[in-house]
Amino acid sequence: MDCWACDCLVSIFRSVLAAEAECMAILELRGVTKRFGGLVAVDNVSFDVEPRQILSVIGPNGAGKSTLFKLITSFLQASDGNIVFKGRDITKLSAHMVARKGVVRTFQETTIFREMTTLQNVIVAHHLRSKASLFGFFFGSPTARKDESRFRESSIEILEYLGLSNVQNEVARNLPHGYLRGLGIAIAMAAEPEILLLDEPFAGMNPEETNAAVEMVRGIRDRGVTVLLVEHDMRAVMRISDYIIVLNFGRKIAEGSAAEIQNNEQVIEAYLGREEDELMMEWQWSILQ
Ligand SMILES: Nc1ncnc2c1ncn2[C@@H]1O[C@H](COP(=O)(O)OP(=O)(O)OP(=O)(O)O)[C@@H](O)[C@H]1O
Ligand SMILES: [Mg+2]
Repeated sequence: MDCWACDCLVSIFRSVLAAEAECMAILELRGVTKRFGGLVAVDNVSFDVEPRQILSVIGPNGAGKSTLFKLITSFLQASDGNIVFKGRDITKLSAHMVARKGVVRTFQETTIFREMTTLQNVIVAHHLRSKASLFGFFFGSPTARKDESRFRESSIEILEYLGLSNVQNEVARNLPHGYLRGLGIAIAMAAEPEILLLDEPFAGMNPEETNAAVEMVRGIRDRGVTVLLVEHDMRAVMRISDYIIVLNFGRKIAEGSAAEIQNNEQVIEAYLGREEDELMMEWQWSILQ
């Protein structure tokens, strides 16, 4: 075979591999189950997450959404089933290892240093990741000072695309609720996640704050990060999601696009069946929009 033919074969092989990688799910859940004694909180749940998707997990209270997120990030160990990230089984890894691989949950507001500015908080988050410079950071070592300018640059960029630049010099304790939540997300972004999991990021926000947060989530996805979202705000979910998974009593009862989910009989039944006025209102609102 001459060289020209070899080159052709190599380039065909490469494009097939590239196309396959593009189509491959970034995260696969296979029969994931979590039992707490007699209660099955997550029951044999399977689905795929495509790269750069915004995928929402919805369902009534107690459906198993937060437990599912804790299983994906190894904050809880699955009783059964497998979780595969980029083709590798991560089910049995520690939470720390899963985060290092790029599957990251948002931090609680309590991990924010309230006396530091927004920018300082994100810089510290970078230092916390790079253990080598953490000690030096507090004692001003030369390595830490070198890292400082790199981390500062990256932090400014993160705050910029999250729309938080205007509060970067504000002390965290003075930040309004919406911005504080945003800062939690910025801190998570310092870990350079490939998948970011957000559990009820819009809870307690007014419509204006929710709009800003929706844009923030879109901004994260546009930077190539896959987003998994648990949220009760149906209007936001329907606007933002590429794909939706519905849980009820731990089981997956439906999956599909926003339009498919809104018209799914089983889903409507699951929400209306609970006879909780607030949930019914949320659901009807989302359909009327
Ligand atoms: N650590 C635990 N030990 C025992 N039971 C638990 C534990 N964590 C969750 N559960 C139970 O598992 C079920 C699912 O809880 P989970 O918090 O995952 O629901 P959720 O869908 O996130 O609900 P919500 O919308 O109210 O946040 C519930 O019945 C809950 O009481
Ligand atoms: Mg929850």
